[in-house]
Amino acid sequence: MGKNRVVIGCQWGDEGKGKIVDLLAAEADIIARFQGGANAGHTVVAGGSKYILHLIPSGIIQPGKLCYIGNGVVLDPAAFLEELAFLQAKGVDHRGRLFVSPAANLVLPYHKLVDVVEERARGTESLGTTMRGIGPAYVDKVARHGIRVADLFVPDRLKARLDYQRRLKAKYLEGSTDERADLDRIYRDLLEFAEIIRPMVVDVSYELMRAHRDGKAILYEGAQGSMLDIDLGTYPFATSSNTTTGGVLTGLGVGPRMIDEVIGVVKAYTTRVGAGPFPTELVDAAGERIRTLGDEYGATTGRPRRCGWLDLVALRHTVRINGVDAIAVTKLDVLDEFDEVKICVAYELGGARLEQVPLDLAALNQVKPVYRSLPGWKSDCTGITRFDGLPGLAREYLNFIAADLGVSICLVSTGAKREETIMVRN
Ligand code: GDP
Ligand code: IMO
Ligand code: MG
Repeated sequence: MGKNRVVIGCQWGDEGKGKIVDLLAAEADIIARFQGGANAGHTVVAGGSKYILHLIPSGIIQPGKLCYIGNGVVLDPAAFLEELAFLQAKGVDHRGRLFVSPAANLVLPYHKLVDVVEERARGTESLGTTMRGIGPAYVDKVARHGIRVADLFVPDRLKARLDYQRRLKAKYLEGSTDERADLDRIYRDLLEFAEIIRPMVVDVSYELMRAHRDGKAILYEGAQGSMLDIDLGTYPFATSSNTTTGGVLTGLGVGPRMIDEVIGVVKAYTTRVGAGPFPTELVDAAGERIRTLGDEYGATTGRPRRCGWLDLVALRHTVRINGVDAIAVTKLDVLDEFDEVKICVAYELGGARLEQVPLDLAALNQVKPVYRSLPGWKSDCTGITRFDGLPGLAREYLNFIAADLGVSICLVSTGAKREETIMVRN
């Protein structure tokens, strides 16, 4: 039997999941997305080319791999078409190996309009969403008036559902001159889109089960980070899906025995885009330095990412809620030049020391990080491919993290390129 792995982000997103998925896709037959949508930005640097994937699984870059978009994903037709065109321009042939669930909900132009209006209405409490319409699309899904891929093939039903949206969202749409509010045009565009996507629509759950039975290996590609999980993250400063391991089961229709291993992707420091608590955030020169050295600007929105030291308290939480077996540590090279590297080992709140994330996550706004300072290794790690080739102090840093979390390190990334990697297990 092939080994089925989950790749999940253990922080607030942008941990380097795209690179890890691309690497591990080499050992898999199938790569599947189970949640989120085009709010994701997954970067793969391979063969002298850079690819940023938003909706299509990063495994598509590896020739011959089959890629699935599950029912838990919210699929934006416009973003999907753009990405197909991007892949084609890059010479990546996706024909016959990209499949979509008929039960996936669609993100439509009016969702993006609502996203913008709601963000504005939140005022100083705005979440800093990606404005990709993700929240409003999941709201429609849960409210049971979403429009799904399957509806594309029944024009009368599609029309009726859009008409219902016209009434439901009147306060956003009526009288608007914004083209995202033009439901007649959306209807026409969707009928065209239906013919493009029709050959890709399959029963994803059934296909994955069959592949599994035939001994194929499946890689489940998480998007966003565990701290952005709608249930277990820093609510309300979260995204609208279950970004954690549980989302794999409901987002693809697979059973728990179709997961053999959970790999948590951990960036060697922490970043966050958008608003919300971030205990180890550095708003000083050190944070700016991490941002510059790590090139920490959003792959989807281009926004500068907030940067800070590694947060073991948050990682203890995400290792637990995901059942992480092993971690892949990325961007170690970004810390090469620092005289000291800090790790947050606990929080302080009202004189008490917290080893775990507080139950009321809003309290994260008040906690103060307790740091353990380790000496920097002050040498260039870029491109190192063997664990014992790393400077001793860098190995100490990594071992400290793994020991605290009680997990093994399966991989260390020492640069953006595919080959700049230590496969620790080999
Ligand atoms: P994702 O959303 O988790 O897939 O991560 P992003 O692609 O949004 O952000 C990660 C960024 O770091 C991308 O620009 C990657 O090319 C880059 N990257 C990944 N691993 C490494 C690494 O080990 N070192 C460096 N310097 N860059 C890396
Ligand atoms: P990847 O897959 C980092 C953040 C947004 C915002 C919050 C809600 O590349 O790691 P949304 O548009 O989802 O309603 O925004 O979630 N966010 C991400 N941050 N990486 C991502 O994806 C993100 N996707 C959403 O910045 O704070
Ligand atoms: Mg990203």
